[in-house]
Amino acid sequence: MTSSIEELLAKWDGEAVVTRYDARHDTYMFIGVHSTALGGAAGGTRMRIYERPADALADTMRLAEGMTFKMAAAGLTAGGGKAVLAVPRLLHGAARRDLLLRYADLIESLHGTYRTGPDMNTSAADMDIIGERTQHVFGRSPEHGGAGSSAPDTAVGVYHGIRAACAHAFGSADLIGRSILVQGLGGVGRVLLDLLVRDGAKVLVTDIDPERVAEAQRATGAGPVAMDEAVSTSCDVLSPCAVGGLLTAQTIPQLRCRVVAGAANNQLGLRDDARRLTEAGILYAPDFVINSGGALHLFGLEVLGWTGEQLAAQLAGVGASLAEIFRSAAANGTTTEDAAEALALARLDAARAR
Ligand code: NAI
Ligand code: PHE
Repeated sequence: MTSSIEELLAKWDGEAVVTRYDARHDTYMFIGVHSTALGGAAGGTRMRIYERPADALADTMRLAEGMTFKMAAAGLTAGGGKAVLAVPRLLHGAARRDLLLRYADLIESLHGTYRTGPDMNTSAADMDIIGERTQHVFGRSPEHGGAGSSAPDTAVGVYHGIRAACAHAFGSADLIGRSILVQGLGGVGRVLLDLLVRDGAKVLVTDIDPERVAEAQRATGAGPVAMDEAVSTSCDVLSPCAVGGLLTAQTIPQLRCRVVAGAANNQLGLRDDARRLTEAGILYAPDFVINSGGALHLFGLEVLGWTGEQLAAQLAGVGASLAEIFRSAAANGTTTEDAAEALALARLDAARAR
């Protein structure tokens, strides 16, 4: 059974949830501020249809916590937060603009405690609209002073992460001949596909949108896989780049891969699923580490003023961090999720002690 809003609020360890019901658009706005220990909370805005407001709140909380770990593990001086616009249907045109402006006013009222950016179903164009009312927004288009889409650099980080995972699992980071299944050919997955093909990997692809699969097949020669066979297809690396919640007690026994390494946030259904993966002999690259390229892109370019070269070095560092996490998990007999959280918590504790 799913939890009620009261139960969710009572058991959350985050700092605050700000809620507004926008009657004009029948939309619940939830802003989760999980931690400001390392700085103002940062994290994207997800626009999505949920069955119940409580499901949207649960998503907000879990994603916000993930951002705290992501920022800390990436060594960025930002806290973790996330926002959800729980819409009755995906809005377009004037209605979307109106909702985003009203939402931007809510962000502005928090004076930087929460800074937003793009996430599922929101883009740089949406951030430009939000930017009309508040400065607390990452990922506007370059014409509006932002760093633009974070998806391509998220893909670069995932690419380095896959190489590090292959080095650990197979003894070589070389991708020539490796079979890699990319689930989701959106902003991240499509760029990742090109990087993998360039390195000589044998790439399989799947997407809910058949046109995306057909385009990828035409452009790169990637092999198509039916959507419901993503989990059970035999491959070296499964790279979830679509939605969260793929790895569960039901799906893990069906996996026929040696490595799971992809961009999707919240890949584990439950925390215990990390243990199930370890027991099944599958190396799991913790999502909040391997997908930190987007955060590095936005924060590095917009706040820290990194050059392209500095950003490229940081993206390569995603692979180095994962290599360290894989080593530490193996040495201590823990899951890779535990090792990654330990790394993030050590950074948070050090910040709190300062
Ligand atoms: P996107 O919305 O551009 O692409 C998602 C793709 O997955 C679309 O092609 C969609 O058709 C497909 N898809 C949706 N449901 C599917 C299903 N059940 N099976 C197969 N395909 C399905 O999203 P984007 O930006 O590429 O992000 C991908 C994932 O990575 C998301 O989970 C996102 O939260 C995460 N992420 C993205 C970052 C970014 O900078 N864009 C940063 C960190 C994480
Ligand atoms: N939503 C993306 C993520 O989950 C990108 C993002 C990072 C957006 C940081 C805002 C702030 O990493």
